[in-house]
Amino acid sequence: MSRSNAVAAFVLLSSLGCSRRSEPAAEPAGPGTPLPPEIARTIEDSCLSCHGDPPTSSAPQSLASVEAWRAPSLSDPAKTNGEMALERMKDGLRPMPPMGAVGATELDAIEAWVAAGMPDGKQALP
Ligand code: HEC
Repeated sequence: MSRSNAVAAFVLLSSLGCSRRSEPAAEPAGPGTPLPPEIARTIEDSCLSCHGDPPTSSAPQSLASVEAWRAPSLSDPAKTNGEMALERMKDGLRPMPPMGAVGATELDAIEAWVAAGMPDGKQALP
């Protein structure tokens, strides 16, 4: 459920008189599925200082969950954030991160994960 749907559901349930119930009204919006361990450390170290949830330092999007990586890119919705991230990590003119590139081994691991369809940590990579 998207955050705005979660908010809408909460408002709706509140208006129906459920607001005093202690249990959550609906599935909590939550932070999303954690990134799988083989790539999580690299992304934490290189990206999440700006692309956290919520993003900071003018970064346009979160890259903090599997769902965020699968979501359409804001600047080119025909691509996922994951595909766009790979492009930008290899972009010599507008690199991501802006300072201090991701190492080749780490980039290979992220590329393999994106190519595999960005599975969550419970699914094995091919
Ligand atoms: C110091 C802050 C900072 C860090 C660290 C950083 N970014 Fe960014 N990122 C930005 C800002 C600001 C923009 C928006 C301007 C631009 O596109 O260059 C951006 C834009 C992007 C975009 C373009 C989004 C779109 O839809 O066009 C992608 C993809 C991206 N970053 C991926 C990454 C990845 C992957 C990492 C880590 C490997 C990373 N960034 C690290 C600040 C950061």
